[in-house]
Amino acid sequence: MLMMHQQAACGGGIMSGLFIAFEGGEGAGKTTQARRLQIRLAEAGYHPALLHEPGSTELGDYLREYLIARRPLCANSELLLFAAARAELMSTAIAPRLAADAVVIADRFAGSTIAYQGYGRGLDRAEIDRLNDFATAGRYPDLTILLDIDPQTGLQRVRARQLQLDIGADDAYNRFENEELAFHHTVRRGFQKLAQSRPNTWQPIDANQPIEDIAAQVWNAVAPLLPPHPASAPPD
Ligand code: TYD
Repeated sequence: MLMMHQQAACGGGIMSGLFIAFEGGEGAGKTTQARRLQIRLAEAGYHPALLHEPGSTELGDYLREYLIARRPLCANSELLLFAAARAELMSTAIAPRLAADAVVIADRFAGSTIAYQGYGRGLDRAEIDRLNDFATAGRYPDLTILLDIDPQTGLQRVRARQLQLDIGADDAYNRFENEELAFHHTVRRGFQKLAQSRPNTWQPIDANQPIEDIAAQVWNAVAPLLPPHPASAPPD
């Protein structure tokens, strides 16, 4: 059973609101489901913000370009850049909205760093936890939806989408999509272990189902956590 959302201190203040994150491997359908949830929440009278990591801030967009590109980057730098993008997102976009009691949806968050940089790259978990705590000021999602997919299926979906956009084979995969299949299996196991270790806040969903079915399961997990009265106006 997922618990009702909790309040957490950040930068000396109390943040409430509702913070939902989507996590999962490549091609799991996070973005599709995050958008659908945003629409459904808007229809219910909430004013949810949808943010995508890395990105959704000026610094995040800038770092994203380098992080995603297949350009030189050692694993430690990769970790620090994701942490910097997250710190910026938390302080400028997430924290102010939660402080205004809004609903925030994040397309990836701190769990991705544990799965990709921790399990995938093999970086030290204690260091990652420390950096995540620092970047988030200790405010983690009230609910994380893990869209679990076999990496081969997920990567096929990514490639099919790219072919639709007429993206050639040379430009096909970004830094992470370009990794060996074994890397993606390790990342998937990392996500699964995280979900198992945090059953109160993580909800795994089989992403190899029709979009509608997944959306219904997402809604079933989110609905009990919603504050009874939507905030009357969205914060700037
Ligand atoms: P993106 O194009 O946003 O992919 P997706 O739509 O799957 O989110 O690329 C983000 C990539 O960055 C993705 O491959 C996962 C990776 N990533 C990390 O390795 N660590 C992190 O902390 C985050 C947020 C993302």
